[in-house]
Amino acid sequence: MSKNKIGANTYLYPMPVTIVGANVNGKANFVTIAYCGIVQHKPPMISITLSKSHYTNLGIKENSTFSVNIPSKDMVIVTDYIGLNSGRYIDKSKLFKIFYGKLKTAPLIEEAPLNLECKLIQCLDYGGSGEIFIGEIVEVYIDEGMLTEGLPDIEKIKPFIFSMHDGNYWEVGKHIAKAWEIGKSYKK
Ligand SMILES: Cc1cc2nc3c(=O)[nH]c(=O)nc-3n(C[C@H](O)[C@H](O)[C@H](O)COP(=O)(O)O)c2cc1C
Repeated sequence: MSKNKIGANTYLYPMPVTIVGANVNGKANFVTIAYCGIVQHKPPMISITLSKSHYTNLGIKENSTFSVNIPSKDMVIVTDYIGLNSGRYIDKSKLFKIFYGKLKTAPLIEEAPLNLECKLIQCLDYGGSGEIFIGEIVEVYIDEGMLTEGLPDIEKIKPFIFSMHDGNYWEVGKHIAKAWEIGKSYKK
């Protein structure tokens, strides 16, 4: 197979779609974030990268808390709206029913099926366009109906994914195999 070189860029698939929440000057603000990743399992930590110009960054630094909410695919319009409009110019505090958890200052979205409540551990700056916020997940909230045998069920949550460089949203496809199982049938 001949490979094309297409230049260094952030082609990492699939890209998640999350809505990050923070209180800025005492009012909830939300930002759509695809640059979100798992840092480690124990204690559970997550990273989000926000452009330095975003309004939400002020609130994360102010309270040292933020939320990462997983929207379902039926929330695609409001999710895109949040990503098109900055809290500097519009009020995004009334888009959702908001609740607060043990940290008291990280706004969590009632309508999103899964919510991660995070405590800021560190803010990293590598001199580029973004600030990387590392957070410890202190609690996870999930709608009762989104669980199967006590675990979050991807088919019920219906998260959606993102292809940033061509600007498209996609739904998650069909189940293909059982992890830590299918590999046992590998034959050289
Ligand atoms: C699907 C999608 C994903 C996005 N992902 C990111 C991201 O990972 N990091 C980022 O800095 N901005 C991202 N944005 C842009 C911000 O959501 C957008 O600039 C937002 O209006 C900033 O809001 P704020 O100024 O209220 O914080 C994304 C936008 C969309 C639509």
